[in-house]
Order: sequence, then C-alpha cells, then structure tokens
Amino acid sequence: MLAKLVPRFQFDVSFADLCKACTFLFNSKPFDSQSIVGLWKTKRAAFCSLSVRSAWDLALTQWNFDSESEIIVSPITVKGMIEIIYDHGLVPVPVDLQLNFLVPSLEELERALTPKTKAILISYLYGSKPRIDAILDFAKKHNLLLIEDAAQAFDGLDYAGNPEADLSMFSFGPIKTCTALGGAVSFCKSNLFARAVEEREKSWVQLDNLWFLKRVFKYGLLKFLSCKRVYGFFMSMLTLFTRNPDQVLKSLVRGFGSGSVLQGIRKRAPLVLMNFLKYRLQNYSQERLSRRRHLGRTLVQNLPSVLSIPGSKVEDHSFWIFPVIVKDADRWIRILRDHGFDANGSGTNVGMVDGSRFAMPVAKLLSSSLLYLPLSPDLSDKDFKALLTFLKRT
Ligand SMILES: Cc1ncc(COP(=O)(O)O)c(C=O)c1O
Repeated sequence: MLAKLVPRFQFDVSFADLCKACTFLFNSKPFDSQSIVGLWKTKRAAFCSLSVRSAWDLALTQWNFDSESEIIVSPITVKGMIEIIYDHGLVPVPVDLQLNFLVPSLEELERALTPKTKAILISYLYGSKPRIDAILDFAKKHNLLLIEDAAQAFDGLDYAGNPEADLSMFSFGPIKTCTALGGAVSFCKSNLFARAVEEREKSWVQLDNLWFLKRVFKYGLLKFLSCKRVYGFFMSMLTLFTRNPDQVLKSLVRGFGSGSVLQGIRKRAPLVLMNFLKYRLQNYSQERLSRRRHLGRTLVQNLPSVLSIPGSKVEDHSFWIFPVIVKDADRWIRILRDHGFDANGSGTNVGMVDGSRFAMPVAKLLSSSLLYLPLSPDLSDKDFKALLTFLKRT
C-alpha cells in the first residue's frame, strides 16, 4: 500500500517557483505584454492572454468569418477549441492525421476543402513540431489562414512557431511545459492584428489575485501528492475511496473547473499571473528540455516493435508527453503499476472531435488505444533504465 510509484505526470514547476509566484502578489507595477513577447528570439508580433482557448476565441472574433464558414481542424484536440468554433457560428471539419507525422496529408486536406473553408487549425500533438511547408503552400494556394495550435509544443524561446503561419499559440497552463499555472502567448503576422486583439480583450473582466492564489495552493498540493514517495499512498487512497480514481485525477488537474468552457476563458489574466509567466520564461532551464528530448529519443530508439509511437517520424519533437499505441492498455497499466510506474490510457481531456464527414482510422486509434508512459525530465536515471528494461522485456 505504501509502495513508491512513479507518477504518470510531473508538474513542470518547482516548490521554489510557487513560493516566488506568491511574491508577485505584492507587485502592482503596470504590466506590458511586450516584456514577455520580447523574450522570444523572433520579430513576429504577439499578444498574451489567459489561455490558448482565450486567444483562439479572440482571434475568431477578430477575423469575423461569415456564419457557417468551415475550419479544417486536427481530429484530436481539447474539446474547448472545438466548442469555441461552434460558438462563433462556424463549422469545424476534422480530417485524419498521418500516424507517423501527426499532421493531415494533402489528399485529406483536398478532400475536406469546400468553397466555405476559411482556415486550417493544426494541433501539434504530444510536443511534436511537424514540418508544415506543404500545408502552408496548400493554405496559400487556397487563400486560407493557417493556425498553429502549439499549446503542447513550447520548446524554449528560440521557437515562436512558423513565421509563415497566421497565428501560433503557446499555452502555459498547469500541465504544460514551463507552466505559470495559466497564460498563453500567441504570435501572429501583423502587429495591427495583435493590438486589435488586445483591445478586444480589454472588455473582458480581469481575474483577481485570490483566483491566482487558489491556483498556487491547488497545484502546490497536487505537486506534493505527485512526489514519488507520496503518490503511491495517494493513489491507493483514491482507489479505496472513489469508484473511478482516473476520472478524479483528471478532474483535479483540469485548468478551469467543470463549468462552461467559454465562461472560464473569456477573462483577462491577473497581473500576478503575467508577472509569474515572465519570471518562468526568464528562468526556465534549457537543460530540462534537453533531458526530456534525450529521454524521448532514447525510448523511440529502444522500444520493442509491439509498441508503435505516434509521430515517430517527426524530426523535431520535444516529447511533452509520450504516448504509445497498444492493444490492451488496461493490461499494460496494471503490469506497469505492479512495477512501480503509473501510466494512463486514452481518455484525457484531449480527445477525438465528433461529427467528421470522413472516416478517421488514425484519430480513432489515437483516441482509443494510447498508453501514456510516465516520461518526464524529473524521472531519475535509475527509474528510466528500469522503465526501459521493463518495456523491452514485456
Ligand atoms: C492541443 C491543445 N490545444 C489547446 C489547448 C488549450 O490550452 P489552454 O489550456 O491554454 O487553453 C490544449 C490544452 O491542453 C491542448 O492540448
């Protein structure tokens, strides 16, 4: 019952960072979003917001497409991104992905194109940064906007998305790389667009310090519970006292509670959150990213062939999370747990978009047969070796 268990996920923030966050509660200096944007090595214009979903909502309001216009979307994403499209009177058109590259093929895009298509929203899954040159050419040829949903793909300040994309959105929500417990930075082509979006955002209510403080406590507690020595006990308690421990964990981690997504995201980030985000970006260790990339690559090179890896041919990958495709995820989860590793299966907040006009075999596979391995830069060499040995043997 008190066995050590490697947690399925590690929050990418230290207790010292969380203490530092509290010091920003007393900082009331006016904040300029450009002091965050300017940290990136890019000349692209950009704006900050409470979340990627807030940025997406603001951008759609600014573009103001005719109602019933269509947006081609990745078939796997968070539900909120799709809800926002519907809320603007638009129609999401999911198209299937290529399993090895995690982007749609040109044939799939061609098939989905109609006179109503206005934009393509590509989600970069699991920390991958796929090549999108061909998709950009396709978008230009058909006069479509190209939007990169890079919520899962922050990879240091050298990467601000593809400069040819119309919008590239990065999330710093609680479970993201370099988290500030919230916040997003979105790069775009035109300064005019960025400033117009910022003007629009001013009409939204600003969240207060108490909201942020509650977050610090909530994620501080969750971080404590995910320490290896405590996590096994915590999971045993959840299993003992709840019917579905997995569901409980997922709802605990969720960023904006369980109410309406739109209510939660149409808010301005409090000053303290933006100051904390700036601090995190200024102090984030590149070594963590390098270690995660190294562990991910080592797994890719050494996994047995029964475990296929979505996105295995994406050259540029930061391995935010590490899913593999398995036949019987529940069995794997049980065996891994017996060996001291907590893995989880499909059914995270990121899932398949409903209502496609086309068959989507890859999306179906990704939404039903994934096993997320507990890979993180905090995994010790000893645990990593044990995980690798176990996977090779099983
Ligand atoms: C692919 C993808 N898009 C968008 C989002 C939303 O990001 P945020 O929480 O900043 O709104 C997420 C969050 O997990 C995501 O994974």
